[in-house]
Amino acid sequence: MSASQLPVVVVGSGLAGLSAATQLITKYKIPVVLIEKADKIGGNSVKASSGINGVQTRTQLENYHITDDNAEVFYQDTLKSSKKLGIPKLMEKLARDSTKSIEWLQNDFQIKLDLLSQLGGHSKMRTHRSSGKLPPGFEIVSTLQKNLEKIKETTPELIDIKLNSKLSNIKINSITKQIEYVEVTNTQDTTASSSSNGVQQVHTNVLVLCTGGFGFNKEMIYEVTKSKFLSELPTSNGQQTLGEGQQLMQKLGAELIDMDQIQVHPTGFVDPTDRKSNVKFLAAEALRGLGGILVSPVDGQRFVNELDTRDHVTDAIFNANLPDNVALLVLSEKVYEVFANNINFYIFKKLIKKTTVGEFYKEHDVAGKWGSQEKFITQLIEYSNESTQDKFNREVRVNSFGDSINADTVIYVGEITPIIHFTMGGVKINEKAQVLNNKNELVAHGLYSAGEVTGGVHGANRLGGSSLLECVVFGRQAADSIASSYA
Ligand SMILES: Cc1cc2nc3c(=O)[nH]c(=O)nc-3n(C[C@H](O)[C@H](O)[C@H](O)COP(=O)(O)OP(=O)(O)OC[C@H]3O[C@@H](n4cnc5c(N)ncnc54)[C@H](O)[C@@H]3O)c2cc1C
Ligand SMILES: *[C@@H]1O[C@H](CO)[C@@H](O)[C@H](O)[C@H]1NC(C)=O
Repeated sequence: MSASQLPVVVVGSGLAGLSAATQLITKYKIPVVLIEKADKIGGNSVKASSGINGVQTRTQLENYHITDDNAEVFYQDTLKSSKKLGIPKLMEKLARDSTKSIEWLQNDFQIKLDLLSQLGGHSKMRTHRSSGKLPPGFEIVSTLQKNLEKIKETTPELIDIKLNSKLSNIKINSITKQIEYVEVTNTQDTTASSSSNGVQQVHTNVLVLCTGGFGFNKEMIYEVTKSKFLSELPTSNGQQTLGEGQQLMQKLGAELIDMDQIQVHPTGFVDPTDRKSNVKFLAAEALRGLGGILVSPVDGQRFVNELDTRDHVTDAIFNANLPDNVALLVLSEKVYEVFANNINFYIFKKLIKKTTVGEFYKEHDVAGKWGSQEKFITQLIEYSNESTQDKFNREVRVNSFGDSINADTVIYVGEITPIIHFTMGGVKINEKAQVLNNKNELVAHGLYSAGEVTGGVHGANRLGGSSLLECVVFGRQAADSIASSYA
């Protein structure tokens, strides 16, 4: 049987899997079986709340008149943040392909992505989200999902979506190095007949592995970092985020790189009604990017450049001697105005509340260590004065607290603490998204991988907005590579 007659199996229905499947089907008419172990589409991708990066996009050039950003500048920011880990060629590709990735979402799917923010570690505003009600991850995932469902109605032979289906094994012919089939376990079938154990074989010669990270797997985090501290932190990740893809690939001889590089996000919301919960809502980085500041609940003072890279902000929180490592996030009314849809959601979840400077001071200065209310107000005035150098060298001070700050000034506040957020390490791939072993040879013909399951794209620290981007860049690249191998 020729390879092109069997469908491509795409595993994982986050943005990486959706991008690969969409590109295979819409651009090349190559049939796809999409396998997802959860009972719904979207993985962690659906949660993404800050946006997706791109340079020289319509939005940068036309809406914001940013003409001094390009792939080289973005690549340099990424390289700097990677601290010499990872694979520079993949980073270069990430930056280079960002323009066409944003264009693909805007032109082929009418996703607006018309607003920008500047997140930590970026030297320009390049993280895109849409005006309108939907947060970026949900908007992008649901749009691609609807598109696939529409295709399924008209051309069912092109797409088969199997939910509740877990990839449990990949059979590779040891001589020809061809993929022969994959085994899929039904995650719902508790009454499986003894003969099959609910396991089904799907025949294929081409597999795109897009199973995401391992941020929810505390044992695995301990195993790769040997850090009890990290393995006990709460997380923003969904419970499906267990690293099964990385483990399967390692068994097949793939190299896993930078596995000990775990991104702790500085700002997970502490729910005042459930402080110890292991899963926490993310306080989107855009909250700081769009103007939020962090203050210590001990003395009411800022302690860090809130827009430094995630690892530095996290370290600052751990080093500031905050009880339970909890800091206070303070937003101006202007931040609320530009991010109202998201902030309303946080208010609805009781993670952010509207208050005034005076009320806030009274509520938190219980031990009398904040000094006078005037001192707290002076800090906000100094921070908001953009003609002076910021105390912590914060460069972007948009939407600050204004020039007439007093006890009645409205602010929005929440409590935050660092959380396990993203796993930089994973399966080694090349620029064609092919899976490699430690000699940089192909592990099998037709074996591709994209998204958070892979390693090397970010090195030691992922910049905000670069994960959705890697899903689109390498997911579509896997499809392009597959199509050219058939040609
Ligand atoms: C709260 C939150 C906010 C974020 N915000 C942003 C942001 O604003 N910008 C940004 O760039 N990034 C953001 N990220 C990171 C980003 O969302 C993810 O890293 C990225 O979407 C990962 O996409 P993925 O397709 O690789 O994996 P996922 O979206 O996690 O999808 C993987 C899928 O594979 C499935 N799967 C796993 N194992 C198996 C198996 N054995 N068999 C079958 N299926 C399997 C899972 O169930 C899951 O559905 C955020 C992450 C979180 C948690
Ligand atoms: C901002 O700082 C400058 C320089 O210190 C000062 O002259 C100016 O009055 C300040 N503006 C406000 C609104 O405080």
